[in-house]
Amino acid sequence: MTLAAPGRGPALALVAPFFLAAPLGLALAGLILAFSNGDTLLAINAPRTVALTHAAVIGWLTMGIFGAVYQLGPAVLGGRLVSSRLARVHFFVHATVVPAFVWTFWQWDVRLMGYAASGLVLSFILFLINAFPAIGTLRRGALPARYLGASLVMLAVTAGFGITWAGTLQHLWFPVTMGRLAGHAHLGLLGWLGLTLMGVAYQLAPMFNVVQRKRPVAGGPILALTVTAALGGGLVLMADPGPWVRLAVAAAMAAGPGAWGIEMLRLMLARSRRTLDVQGRATFVSLGFLVVTICLGLLAAIGKPVSPGHEPTRLLLGYGIAGVSGWAGIMLIGNSYKILPFLVWYHRYRQLAGIRPVPVVADIYSEGAARAVLAVHTTGTIVAIAGALLGDLNILRAGGLMLTLGAALHMVSLAHIVLAPHAPAPRRIGPGEVATR
Ligand code: HEM
Repeated sequence: MTLAAPGRGPALALVAPFFLAAPLGLALAGLILAFSNGDTLLAINAPRTVALTHAAVIGWLTMGIFGAVYQLGPAVLGGRLVSSRLARVHFFVHATVVPAFVWTFWQWDVRLMGYAASGLVLSFILFLINAFPAIGTLRRGALPARYLGASLVMLAVTAGFGITWAGTLQHLWFPVTMGRLAGHAHLGLLGWLGLTLMGVAYQLAPMFNVVQRKRPVAGGPILALTVTAALGGGLVLMADPGPWVRLAVAAAMAAGPGAWGIEMLRLMLARSRRTLDVQGRATFVSLGFLVVTICLGLLAAIGKPVSPGHEPTRLLLGYGIAGVSGWAGIMLIGNSYKILPFLVWYHRYRQLAGIRPVPVVADIYSEGAARAVLAVHTTGTIVAIAGALLGDLNILRAGGLMLTLGAALHMVSLAHIVLAPHAPAPRRIGPGEVATR
């Protein structure tokens, strides 16, 4: 396992804004869900649904991943940023473009959607210029770096289809069929978000939970399988195939994350650190949502015959919420309470260690607050999935409000980590140790 070398990492002021802004994307998605109308349960491509999807995947998860890549790349994977200034400009561009992009979906203004989509493509280009060198040399072959390399390519492919779909909505070159929608969506969800999450977890889950007795055994084949399924499956879906082909694609897409989930479970059960902190808990909860996502995804591929109320949209919505908010979102929340406090410790207290008592990383965030965020977010996700599957708009809206509340709490707790002074917690003095305060 690669050890952290945070001295090579970028400044706190560069990374922190990405983590602090990310929950705003979730808050926006939760609010849109809270204001959902009857269309939300009838058509997966209803304007409000597409708006909330992009607020969640691009405003929340992708924003958080940007911060994580800028931090973990140089600090853990041995890469470097081309330019810190470029990363700051990138933050500004992304934070400006995302609300505009989401608004154009909400209004279904296809002309402005084209401009906002171009801004988003610019944001991804700015990111990729820094991200490829940041994840380190692929020739070193570290598993997380290989996953991240593949996921960055998938981001470019997803954005390429996304801007094409935005273009055709405006200029009517061809229709955005349900298959084309699903192809773009899965390239983004599995290819970009899924691969990133899986690669980062290979690095962080063993590191934070002290796994020494076991190692990943199938990381390479799982990567190959997932890339093939996301790319091949995404393209096949764009041809609007029949139910049996859709089911085969869904099974192929589920195989990689499913095998990865078993690997993660194996590693987590072999951990030396017996007491779970928020990151460890989040990993288990997230794996639970992965199982839910896979089950709902397979059912959604079959479609109408197995859909509650014979309404496939309800199944698709529940599947999307389980994957985005449950599997990926909870993993991001758990890791945010490790990445950010570590960065704060490094930049603020490392120099003082040995000179005066300094807090340890665990003193920099409140475990109680972090668990509360995890609990509210998990409950909100379950309520929203239930609302979607039951076809009950009020339950769905309540889930949206809870997700917004969880996002607000998450943001406040992260701001506290970055801004508040931290005191070292009193510790028991062992034999032979001297009290320094
Ligand atoms: C430049 C970047 C992007 C653009 C311009 C874009 C644009 C679009 C457009 C035009 C649609 C179809 C709207 C319709 O006809 O109903 C769509 C759907 C979708 N996109 Fe993107 N997209 C981008 C990036 C992404 C990324 C990175 C992800 C995932 C991580 C993603 C996930 C989705 C999903 C899940 C849907 C389906 C939404 C639904 O059915 O509610 N997109 N996108």
